Parts: sequence; structure tokens; C-alpha cells
Amino acid sequence: MTQPLRVAPSILSADFSRLGSEIRAVGRAGADWIHVDVMDAHFVPNLTIGPPVIRKIRPVSRLPFDVHLMMSRPELYLEAFVDAGSDFVTVHVEACGKKLPAIASKIRKLGARPGVAINPETPFGHVSPYLDCFDLLLIMTVHPGFGGQKFIPAVLPKIRRARRWIRRHRPDLILSVDGGIDRRTARLARSAGVNLLVAGSSVFGESDYATAIRHLRKT
Ligand code: DX5
Ligand code: ZN
Repeated sequence: MTQPLRVAPSILSADFSRLGSEIRAVGRAGADWIHVDVMDAHFVPNLTIGPPVIRKIRPVSRLPFDVHLMMSRPELYLEAFVDAGSDFVTVHVEACGKKLPAIASKIRKLGARPGVAINPETPFGHVSPYLDCFDLLLIMTVHPGFGGQKFIPAVLPKIRRARRWIRRHRPDLILSVDGGIDRRTARLARSAGVNLLVAGSSVFGESDYATAIRHLRKT
């Protein structure tokens, strides 16, 4: 099953003083989803936003909200995130381990779709046993915590391996990358088999969001 390529601008790089209009602007510019980075100052060394902000921005856009939880104990907050308007809720394998199946089924019961994220150093084998429970696999191409970092090319073989696995076992699983995605690295990720590109600074750092998004789709 071939899936369309989607682009999800990460609002971490948006102007937070005008968050609503930034989200509308990327929507008009052709974004498919909105990526929301939640950091807890524990799993990652940074602190961002939580459910109250998601609830406030929810009415601004009809696009799916792809909420990336970089948190140590996401299971305690799933209800709050889904209730605030998250469509996809992605948790990290490094934070959840064996709790992943229970977390995925809770996200589904709450009415959202579960995703699982994997850090650059974490082997694919740590997540593959759990992929049956999820709708999305997010492969980090930087160390999570900050926008504007450099893409780590050493992750590419893992992306290709994930694509081969998905083709064989779960052709409907969405394969996403996050971190350092720009026009050049988007091409590498696309040819490795990714179908959802998360991009922060390469979209919000440009003056013309539509051109920036178009460049990610095709160079
Ligand atoms: C990194 C976040 C990313 C980040 C991407 O910890 O998960 O979503 O905002 O930003 P860029 O595209 O600037 O690397
Ligand atoms: Zn992210």
C-alpha cells in the first residue's frame, strides 16, 4: 500500500507570540498535519507546552495534530492530551519499554491514534516487537530536545530497515522522521521510504512557507 507523502511543520520553531496565525499560515501553505513537541525537562533537557496550549490552538485548524510526547511518564497524561485535541499521540520507546502495548491501547480507547518514537541510537529491534500496536513510527534524526539541529545521516540505514519491515508486516504503518529535515535531507528520507516529514526550522525559518513546504515534497 503506497501512502501519500505528508508534511507536518513543527510549531516548536513558530513564533509563539502569534501561534494561532502561524498555524493558519502553514495550513494555507499546504501543511498536511501540525506537529506539536511536548518536552518535560526530564526525558529531554527542555520544557515546552502541554494540554492547555493544545486546547487553545485546536479550533484554529482542521489539520490533524501530531503530538510528540518527549516525556518520561506519558501514561499519566494521555487523557489530558487526547481531551485537548490530539489526533496522534506519540510516545518514546526509551521512556515506555514494556508499557508500550498498554499505552497504545489506552490512546486508542481515548479516541486518538498511537505512535511510537525512537531515538537516533536506539536499535530498530527495540521497537519492532511493539509495532503491531501502533499506527505511526517516528524515527528521530536528531537527539530530541531542540529545534534547529543537524540531521544525523547514520540513522538512514535504520529508516531503510524500518521501511523493509513495514513493507512486509504492516504496510499501513506511517513512517515519520523528525529532526534536521530540510530540502536536502528530505530527499534522503524520502528515498529511504519515509512518508511523513516533520520539519520545524526549514519551514518556520523561511519567509515563504508554501515554497518551503513544496521543497520538502520534491526537490
Ligand atoms: C526535536 C523535535 C522536533 C523539532 C524539529 O526534539 O522533536 O520536532 O522541532 O525541528 P527542526 O526541523 O528544526 O530540526
Ligand atoms: Zn517532534
